[in-house]
Amino acid sequence: MLNAAIIGCGEMGRIHAECIEKIDGIRNWAFCDLDLSRAESLRDRFHGALATQYVSEIFSQPAIEVVYITTQTNSHLSLTLAALQAGKHVLIEKPLAVSLTEAMQIHQAAEQSNKVVMVGMKFRFYALIQKARRLINNPFMVSVQVMDDPWPEHFWANDPVIGGGNVVSQGVHGSDLLCYLAGGDPRQVFASGANYHQPTGVIDNLAATFSFENGVSGSLVVGDTGQPPALGKFCVQMFGSEGSLLLTERLTRLAFHPKGKAENLEFHGEEDGFLQENRALIKSILENAPVPASTWDGYMAQAMIDAAIRSLKSKKVELVSE
Ligand SMILES: NC(=O)c1ccc[n+]([C@@H]2O[C@H](COP(=O)([O-])OP(=O)(O)OC[C@H]3O[C@@H](n4cnc5c(N)ncnc54)[C@H](O)[C@@H]3O)[C@@H](O)[C@H]2O)c1
Repeated sequence: MLNAAIIGCGEMGRIHAECIEKIDGIRNWAFCDLDLSRAESLRDRFHGALATQYVSEIFSQPAIEVVYITTQTNSHLSLTLAALQAGKHVLIEKPLAVSLTEAMQIHQAAEQSNKVVMVGMKFRFYALIQKARRLINNPFMVSVQVMDDPWPEHFWANDPVIGGGNVVSQGVHGSDLLCYLAGGDPRQVFASGANYHQPTGVIDNLAATFSFENGVSGSLVVGDTGQPPALGKFCVQMFGSEGSLLLTERLTRLAFHPKGKAENLEFHGEEDGFLQENRALIKSILENAPVPASTWDGYMAQAMIDAAIRSLKSKKVELVSE
């Protein structure tokens, strides 16, 4: 039985604790938050052994094997380095860091450790995303949209230093999904976008076109202008030799138009990304299985957003990677 510690007992800390409670082979053991009452509240709800406001208590506790880092994004780097130094397996919520440089530092530390380090890229794990990949496994074009209702002005995620703004914070979900469905490495991007309304001045809405080394073309729309009717917050389209498909309603409804057929097929699924992501983490730790959302994946998702923001500023095509 793996003992888990959650550092950051806000929204994501609670969601991961709920997942841990449902999975065999792992249990909620410790909770840490700068606000001790939050740690105590989750400890009591999930029957943990420890609640603390000091991360050092988590890292020095030999009983803890896996640490979930669910704090604001600007603390991910220092906490991940400390967790690896202490010999813990780690799940880091997305995005890896606010800056690409820090994301690379996390990736390098993960590479040098012999621990499982996974990034919270939940979309990869949805049953209907897996189905979409099976239905169209050689896409020509993939389009992903992550369009939320306006984020509150004083939300920490809109602070350029703490969260980087919604295009960074939720955009990495979209860029990771684009990469995952395209099935190749992104090469270059041309993007347009701006700071349209958030008072912190972050880029808050962006449209980008990526080309992938395997020839796939991809588009990403991300922002907080308002969830569109019928599509909802997340929308994916794929086009390939097998046909075309549309995923809507938070990726729980899939409509597939097989090439040359009159009838469309429709599938319904659950919003099961968090649970499946946690199952995959435990499998990687207990069975030495490959990490399905690695720090490299997290880094590439962030490099795509970083290059898109560079492109909208330079008004030129920018390389994502050499
Ligand atoms: N995967 C997803 O769908 C998803 C969705 C939302 C947020 N997130 C990510 O999850 C992370 C947390 O977001 P949230 O919405 O849960 O935030 P939140 O504000 O609800 O909770 C963060 C908690 O971390 C605590 N904290 C901050 N620094 C700390 C430190 N050094 N030590 C201990 N506790 C500390 C805060 O006191 C707070 O209670 C962010 O990186 C965010 O981008 C992921």
